[in-house]
Amino acid sequence: MSSGNRGDALCFFINGNKVTENHADPETMLLSFLREKLRLTGTKYGCGGGGCGACTVMVSRYQPATKTIIHYSANACLLPLCQLHGAAVTTVEGIGSTKTRIHPVQERIAKAHGSQCGFCTPGMVMSMYTLLRNTPQPCMDDITQALAGNLCRCTGYRPIVDGCRTFCQETNCCKANGAGDCCLDGEKNTEGEPKQETNCSQANGAGDCCLNAEKDTDEPEQEKPRLFDKDEFVQLDPTQELIFPPELILMAEARNPQTLTFHGERMTCVFPASLEELVQLKSSNPKAPLLMGNTNIGPDIKFKGVVHPLIISPTSVMELYEVTQTPQGVWLGAGCSLSEVRSLLEKLRPQFPEEKTELFTALIQQLGNLGSQQIRNVATLGGNIMSAYPNSDLNPVLAAGNCKLSVISSGGRQEIPLHQDFFVSFGKTALKPEDIVLSIFIPFSRKGEFVRAFRQAPRKESSFATVTTGMRVFFSEGSRVVQDVSIYFGGMGSTTVSAAKTCAALIKRPWDDEVLGQAYDVLLDELALPPSTPGGKVEFRRSLTLSFLFKFNLEILQKLREMNVITDQLPEKIQPLPREIQSSLQEFQHVPKDQNNQDPVGRPIMHRSAISQATGEAVYCDDIPRTDGELFLALVTSSRAHAKITGMDMSEALQLPGVFNVITAKDIPGKKVREMFGYEEELLAETEVSCIGQMLCAVVADTRVHARQGAAAVKISYEDLPDPVFTTEEAIEKSSFFEPRRMIQIGNVTETFKSVDNIHEGEVRLGAQEHFYMETQSMLVVPVGEETEFNAFVSTQWPTLIQDAIAETLGIPSNRVTCHVKRVGGAFGGKVTKTSILACITSVAAWKTNRAVRCVLERGEDMLITGARHPVLGKYKVGFMNDGRIMAADIQYYANAGNTVDESVLVVEKILLHMDNAYNIPNLRGRGAACRTNLPSNTAFRGFGVPQSIMVAENMVNDVAAVLGRPADQIRETNMYKGVSLTHYKFEFSPENLLRCWEECKTKSDYSNRRQAVDQFNQQSCWKKRGMSIIPIKYGIAFSEGFLNQAGALVHIYKDGSVLVTHGGAEIGQGIHTKMQQVASRELHIPLSKIHISETSTNTVPNTCPSAASFGTDANGMAVKDACQTLYQRLEPVRQKNPEGSWESWVQAAFFEKISLSATGFYKGLDLYMDWDKMEGQPYSYYTFGVCCCEVELDCLTGDFRTLRTDIVVDIGRSVNPSVDIGQIEGAFMQGLGLYTLEELKFSPSGLLYTRGPSQYKIPAVCDVPLRFNVYLLSDSHNPNAIYSSKGIGEPVLSLGSSVFFAIKDAVAAARSESGLTGPFPLDSPATAERACLACASPFTQKIEADKPGSFKPWALNI
Ligand SMILES: Cc1cc2nc3c(=O)[nH]c(=O)nc-3n(C[C@H](O)[C@H](O)[C@H](O)COP(=O)(O)OP(=O)(O)OC[C@H]3O[C@@H](n4cnc5c(N)ncnc54)[C@H](O)[C@@H]3O)c2cc1C
Ligand code: FES
Ligand code: FES
Repeated sequence: MSSGNRGDALCFFINGNKVTENHADPETMLLSFLREKLRLTGTKYGCGGGGCGACTVMVSRYQPATKTIIHYSANACLLPLCQLHGAAVTTVEGIGSTKTRIHPVQERIAKAHGSQCGFCTPGMVMSMYTLLRNTPQPCMDDITQALAGNLCRCTGYRPIVDGCRTFCQETNCCKANGAGDCCLDGEKNTEGEPKQETNCSQANGAGDCCLNAEKDTDEPEQEKPRLFDKDEFVQLDPTQELIFPPELILMAEARNPQTLTFHGERMTCVFPASLEELVQLKSSNPKAPLLMGNTNIGPDIKFKGVVHPLIISPTSVMELYEVTQTPQGVWLGAGCSLSEVRSLLEKLRPQFPEEKTELFTALIQQLGNLGSQQIRNVATLGGNIMSAYPNSDLNPVLAAGNCKLSVISSGGRQEIPLHQDFFVSFGKTALKPEDIVLSIFIPFSRKGEFVRAFRQAPRKESSFATVTTGMRVFFSEGSRVVQDVSIYFGGMGSTTVSAAKTCAALIKRPWDDEVLGQAYDVLLDELALPPSTPGGKVEFRRSLTLSFLFKFNLEILQKLREMNVITDQLPEKIQPLPREIQSSLQEFQHVPKDQNNQDPVGRPIMHRSAISQATGEAVYCDDIPRTDGELFLALVTSSRAHAKITGMDMSEALQLPGVFNVITAKDIPGKKVREMFGYEEELLAETEVSCIGQMLCAVVADTRVHARQGAAAVKISYEDLPDPVFTTEEAIEKSSFFEPRRMIQIGNVTETFKSVDNIHEGEVRLGAQEHFYMETQSMLVVPVGEETEFNAFVSTQWPTLIQDAIAETLGIPSNRVTCHVKRVGGAFGGKVTKTSILACITSVAAWKTNRAVRCVLERGEDMLITGARHPVLGKYKVGFMNDGRIMAADIQYYANAGNTVDESVLVVEKILLHMDNAYNIPNLRGRGAACRTNLPSNTAFRGFGVPQSIMVAENMVNDVAAVLGRPADQIRETNMYKGVSLTHYKFEFSPENLLRCWEECKTKSDYSNRRQAVDQFNQQSCWKKRGMSIIPIKYGIAFSEGFLNQAGALVHIYKDGSVLVTHGGAEIGQGIHTKMQQVASRELHIPLSKIHISETSTNTVPNTCPSAASFGTDANGMAVKDACQTLYQRLEPVRQKNPEGSWESWVQAAFFEKISLSATGFYKGLDLYMDWDKMEGQPYSYYTFGVCCCEVELDCLTGDFRTLRTDIVVDIGRSVNPSVDIGQIEGAFMQGLGLYTLEELKFSPSGLLYTRGPSQYKIPAVCDVPLRFNVYLLSDSHNPNAIYSSKGIGEPVLSLGSSVFFAIKDAVAAARSESGLTGPFPLDSPATAERACLACASPFTQKIEADKPGSFKPWALNI
């Protein structure tokens, strides 16, 4: 062990290069080392907690015992640098680059259109790359598992999966029918489910699948246009990969482990070389944790501020990795990673009779669902047990399975059973602090002994369980009398809990309905959770315990029957939900036959930066190199929802190392507020706070770590103000609204209600949605150094707003501020107003310090501060005739706006303008209000109110169908607009293409046959139900504030013929630069390769509008076209002089003839408006139409569901770029699926956002992709109102995600009918597993009495 503070040198390799680090701080993670020290910025920060996969790298190690090299994926954000001694790390830069050669994984993800904003792409690439290093010909299951821990907010995953699928082994069958009649049937994967190893030719997205039932066009399959051609792909050649550094092999072979010590600013980490040394160290430092996978210690340090002066990392202690077999079972070293444990158990299982490996199977199953591959590759078995999480997946199974631990300390070795006394409380076990777990004993099961595990999580994969369980029962031969039983649950208390009383009710008694019936009651009693239990979902969690016991019962009955112990007729066995992602169709039109080959418009051109994004070369805001003297800014936010600020004490912060200054409102030289609708929003609060998360001041320091430590040290004192308002109901009660409130009506609603056959009143509540752009808010403001000029590099959708806001804040003219946007790692509406406020604060710091200042929010800060999509409560009264015609509707909308107005009034307006969705309701009244509450201010989000509006409208239509007992699609069809129509704001339009989409969707999805099949399935299945729905949408494109529809462009032709295009749109992943290049290529008649787009900036194209409202291509496309046409005309004389000349020759000639080779372009846009006094207007340029049909399968006992199939038909006119547009459709649909079924923001009763990272907030992952996901662009559609007859598509399809919601509701209705419940029923959005399960009203949920609202303080608010 080295002495003093010098520490040892750390030696490892990155991308084949040796790294020797003499000052490895134990608190430094590989991610920041790569990004900040080595400038390898391809590896991205997305969450810092192992939950998003953006930071995925491959780690390789040599194992001297087996003389093999192992490769595994890991999250660099949780990988302590000092643990890398002797390892080789490969990052995205190490596998390929545009300068050398790109790797096939990079190529295929890019060319399959799997990269939009690109921020997730390096992580995806590295997960897939690692898989291929271990399994060069993977099956689909391998691929989906490898990608399960990588989140993407843009693509919807389908194209990523399709790109990766091209690595699968070819077979002749694609299982596209989803049934069991596939050529590969019979082969089972580890969980006993059919293994999918398929890659029929349809995998290229061409639609030419071998089992394709939809050959409904006359076009021969091979002539259908394809999104990509896999024949172009470079073959994977494993011999081309980086070799493992021989030096590291020699190092490992030397086998003379030495104690290593690393010192940091606050922590020391010791790596003992032997078990003796470890025992000694631990006994003299019992409080020092054992650092293994760092998946618990790391997040505790990072998110809970825990500081350990000393940590011990025993990764060199070989005894922790030993595996020994005995006649009774197997001892597994506590240091084995969870992936190793899984593969060890998988290898051992076939070596023994099935009856001996019941526990192995249950553990394998749990390990398949625990965390992500990256987490399982580093997290250890000992670590999982000792972390004693309340919802550990392994502990209930290990405890139920009678496992034991071998523990060592200075007092010697002992064996400790893992039973109910072992788990003491949250994070605490019965072991003493100096105890070290050496290994875990996994016993063989006996004949007649059965072990099962069940779990239910908010998301199927990469998510902690809501409730998880291990259950074991033992019968003596030929008997159904229970000899022994043990049941443990996770998620039902502060730690793993035993259901001992339930077991007592079962033991020595026959396993039959009567005894089980009693056991359910005991269990319900035994694991009763108080109504305010942390984590909430109390009724659901309790019902899950019953559901799991019931599922266990079904399995055991099956076993007893197999053993001929019982001969009874058995209830249906509940099969797992299907999970194989099949090939999908993407249909779009050919370009016209006479279109020039060089003209790229209408072709599926790859996103212009996809390759750089896949190689990690693409530069995002935080990838910009540090400038000399640069400072980092961290924010201090309010911890009170409504209070007076009585003091701000910065003294301690200013003493901390590296802290440079603290910025408060007093430092702002110009305007201290931003204004909207006459309301002022303070940049930094001075006297009062109105929500938790409101920004108060900012600390600037030399590094981000120091800035954050400084911010944590600022002390704010408050005096609470009375009566904070949080929920919509509270706001209504207190009339707490932002004005103006809006109303719109057509016809005479009140009178019509008097004459209709039926009146129904209902309501639906729609939760908020976090943007969860993968790149958090990022900016860098650089003072130029003279004449108060500033360059602002900002990740924003609206550079002009940033420019204006900074100028106003600093009190300088706009011509001193230039805002640059290279690309944005996802925005979705969240990088407009909130970004401008952050940029203002950052600019004040830059102005005050005269230094470059960078501000990059951590995920938790971003979620806390920047607001979300507005949650909405919709209350409706609807009048309709017995034949289904809706004659009148009166709807009230309340949007929870939060503490500032932001764009809330505009959101409410858009809600009202879309309240009719696709239906002609002759008498319609809508009223909308933005509620002012003490929650963080909500803001724009893709769809801007429309997704909320559609949910209310469609729920109302669904209720009408339920009241009448008619299929919902018939009611929809009856009420849809037909013929040229007037909307409720008196805007005339033709719904012809809407109706075409509807008919085509019904045909493509084979709606009526599948509807029948669904009903048949439901008749035969009691516990699983299927549901189907078909939803239309009519979405208004452009800004109803006419002035926002203008756009500008600037095009330069250089003397060598290369062209630089600049326009007002920001590249936020939507592919606008690619489309603009296509426009320029067509107009200038030159290939794409001659055109470049570098960035969006306010000094090239001024006074631009936001990239929003699905209008970017429409507006900027016209401006680019205008500029290019000007230039092309200017070149006409030189072309005429030399008609055979080349582009370059004309350009040169033009230069010598002094013809200007630079032109601006402008698009005025339509003068759209909405007159709210007259309640009429022309707020949109045109409508984009779409229809979506979804089918789901729902497990009614757990609420878990899977989207089996989705068919979307969209009218987007003539697509400028079908691959980009289909990408927008799929991505928006998946975001909608998240909104309506998955994503929940939870607030504490005091207004604190609980859900501040991917661990708590679940966006859709690969496991949520519909198993068949078909997209069809409506053919022969034209749009005179937009460029090249195209239509805007960024937002509309998000609302179609609601068809998954209504399919779930349909399945729930089928379940309810089993209990005799018919008619409308409430189901709020999102239809999470919790809501769906409780709405099914199964005998189990009905056993649970809900606590009376108002009789307790709930854990979370229903905002
Ligand atoms: C994103 C994410 C998702 C996750 N999802 C799941 C999930 O779905 N289900 C689930 O069950 N878990 C999940 N986990 C938890 C994860 O499984 C545990 O954090 C992990 O198993 C802990 O192991 P580790 O090696 O990383 O422990 P470390 O963080 O290194 O250590 C954790 C604790 O264990 C102690 N410890 C470690 N080894 C020993 C030993 N041999 N003897 C004594 N004490 C020891 C340490 O002192 C420390 O207190 C998730 C974690 C993350 C970050
Ligand atoms: S940044 Fe590492 S997993 Fe999210
Ligand atoms: S492309 Fe995946 S997050 Fe944007």
